[in-house]
Amino acid sequence: MLVRAARFLLVLLVGLGVLTSVAHGVLSRTTRRWFERDVELRARLAVTSARRSLVRHWDSAHQGALVEALTDITRDERVMGTAACDVDGRQRATSEGFPAAFACPTVLARLRAEGLALDTPGGWTLNVDLPGGPVHLYGVALTEVSPDGFVVVVHDMSFLERREATTRAQLLLAFFVLALAAAGVTVIAARLAWRGWQADLRRALRGDGGREFQPLMRDVRELVARLTQERDADAPTGVWSPERLRGVLTQHLQGERVVIVANREPYIHQRTEDGGVRVVHPASGLVTALEPVMRACSGVWVAHGSGSADRETVDAHDRVKVPPGEESYLLRRVWLTEEEEAGYYYGFSNEGLWPLCHVAHIRPEFREADWEQYRKVNQRFADAVCDEVDSDDPIVLLQDYHFALAPAMIRARLPRATIITFWHIPWPNPERVAICPWRDQLIAGMLGSSILGFHTQQHCNNFLDAVDTFVESRIDRENNAVVQGARRTLVRPYPISIEWPVRWLDELPSPEDCAAGVRRELGLRPDALLGVGVDRLDYTKGIEERLAAVDTLLERHPELRGRFTFAQLAAPSRTRIARYQELNDRVEALANKINERWSTGDYRPVVLLRAHHEPPAVFRYFRAADLCYVSSLHDGMNLVAKEFVAARTDERGVLILSEFTGAARELTEALVVNPYDLGEASEAMAAALAMPAAEQQERMRAMRSLVAHFNVYRWAGRMLVDAAQLRSRERLTDRLTRRLSDPGRA
Ligand code: F6P
Repeated sequence: MLVRAARFLLVLLVGLGVLTSVAHGVLSRTTRRWFERDVELRARLAVTSARRSLVRHWDSAHQGALVEALTDITRDERVMGTAACDVDGRQRATSEGFPAAFACPTVLARLRAEGLALDTPGGWTLNVDLPGGPVHLYGVALTEVSPDGFVVVVHDMSFLERREATTRAQLLLAFFVLALAAAGVTVIAARLAWRGWQADLRRALRGDGGREFQPLMRDVRELVARLTQERDADAPTGVWSPERLRGVLTQHLQGERVVIVANREPYIHQRTEDGGVRVVHPASGLVTALEPVMRACSGVWVAHGSGSADRETVDAHDRVKVPPGEESYLLRRVWLTEEEEAGYYYGFSNEGLWPLCHVAHIRPEFREADWEQYRKVNQRFADAVCDEVDSDDPIVLLQDYHFALAPAMIRARLPRATIITFWHIPWPNPERVAICPWRDQLIAGMLGSSILGFHTQQHCNNFLDAVDTFVESRIDRENNAVVQGARRTLVRPYPISIEWPVRWLDELPSPEDCAAGVRRELGLRPDALLGVGVDRLDYTKGIEERLAAVDTLLERHPELRGRFTFAQLAAPSRTRIARYQELNDRVEALANKINERWSTGDYRPVVLLRAHHEPPAVFRYFRAADLCYVSSLHDGMNLVAKEFVAARTDERGVLILSEFTGAARELTEALVVNPYDLGEASEAMAAALAMPAAEQQERMRAMRSLVAHFNVYRWAGRMLVDAAQLRSRERLTDRLTRRLSDPGRA
């Protein structure tokens, strides 16, 4: 036995030796590529942020300023130096200590030898091996200077060799320890092994005996195969599309019909003054995100029928096929009485939960009568869901703060349902949650969900803290789950997004034509500078702060008076609530005040367009604008920011974004500001209006690529993949539990 173990150990060591050298080769090639890419990115970022001052001081009589701008780039300890060169090789200036071996003419000569173009978009790189170690050169053309020039950044890469040596040593040590451990375990296992048992096990795994293992192995194999498929579906490669989302449904969820529940309906039928019926697309981030998902998945959307012609357009089961003309899914309308709507929607949801969840300094109001209606309406929607499902384990997607109680109500009637609840607004800290007299019931209701989604990890953490404070349960922090008896609720961040590409853009003119058309319509000069804001008239959106920032901008920048106009598209919202009426009046008064202060002749700096705008009209303004300012005081995500980015197929325009939006975590190339800081916000607007086209393009391109990849199909796909995994696990657990309690059943 010992001789055999020694022989085994020898073979293992030789094998590991070979493996180590292969692994090391692969590892060092990969890490070298990573480091080179990292260095290039750093160099590019450093030049981008110094670009404005390089351009400003290029021709300056005092070399000092240009040298200072170059020295700024060399803050990273690995940068050996930076030089500013003219295209003919003349050296304008260098940072201190710039290596003479890379003087401008030498760099030019190398570039030519490598066949690289000086004006390669995004810059070019060269790797040079010197006796002291490798060196990395990054250069980029500056076309805004005269004569055309370029900047070159030299990075010392000798650290690569040091890192490689350390990696090699660590790898050898790791494999050696592994080999010893593996050999030890093998010897012990060999000694303990029982031949007969092994033979039985082998037969069982082959499937020619050991009947007791067969069902278990089949289940496990099935599970592994499904999990692998699901992982592949969620692999970060390729862009998510409606087809890919449909694929997830058919592959992983057997094409099950999805039931979505949201208070707002995607299509509202309104009676027009001439007696006709008009279809309205509501101003709602939720609808913007979910409607494309429903088109892709089909199924049923259960919503409050709030349009004046809604009742006339449904069938006997209160259903209507939508979208009009395409009819790819069903809209099931739930009717509410005036009293129910007042208590559930205006009262508990929008005077209670909405201000509770947003840090916008509006006191939440909680009334017992509203709570009663909220409970009653949640039950009505839960019952409607149970009417619509076609199995006892359906997939139900519940949306938003209007339905905190519905998950547990649906679970009570359909214990095997997969319920995914997504909370579209922020979730506050436990101190704030404590304000709500019915906080325990709300949280317990939400825990009826299988998966509970928020936009950010911060909101998930806040929710878990609230569960910890108010509800009896166990929190599995490692897996971000709440465990109550045999039931688990996973709590996960799923940052929401928009469809990509946006379908409304197909029917719109080019950005240049939109710019000209909108300026004409607003009576502006063709070269006028235009900013836009697009929101529901809601106190969380910071519309007053936004207009005040426009006022400060004109105060601080006289050159913009008469040239810059800010158009605010404001959709009236929740108008029966006093706070919203007051906001409407205050915004109007502020716009008038700013206009009185800065108007001259026909010029008015603020254009307030208080009306519902259909999506094509909104996208036309996005395309026409030089800047878009999203100034929310607190916002779960804010999809206006992503829509602006999607609209700019010309890669122009600047997004100014409040740091208090979920979107600011993703769209980092926006100018991110604190909307309460009027100085900062107004300077961001000034910077946006003066931003060179190349910088606009660079920022916009990066944001467009992010939104294209992290689109709403991915958002929904990830939730459905997680749901599918959960279902597989639950079904397997079910089967095993049944088998253990009744071993006779296969
Ligand atoms: O995004 C938050 C949200 O409350 C959505 O839930 C809602 O659809 C949207 O804002 C518009 O609000 P409302 O449906 O009350 O008009």
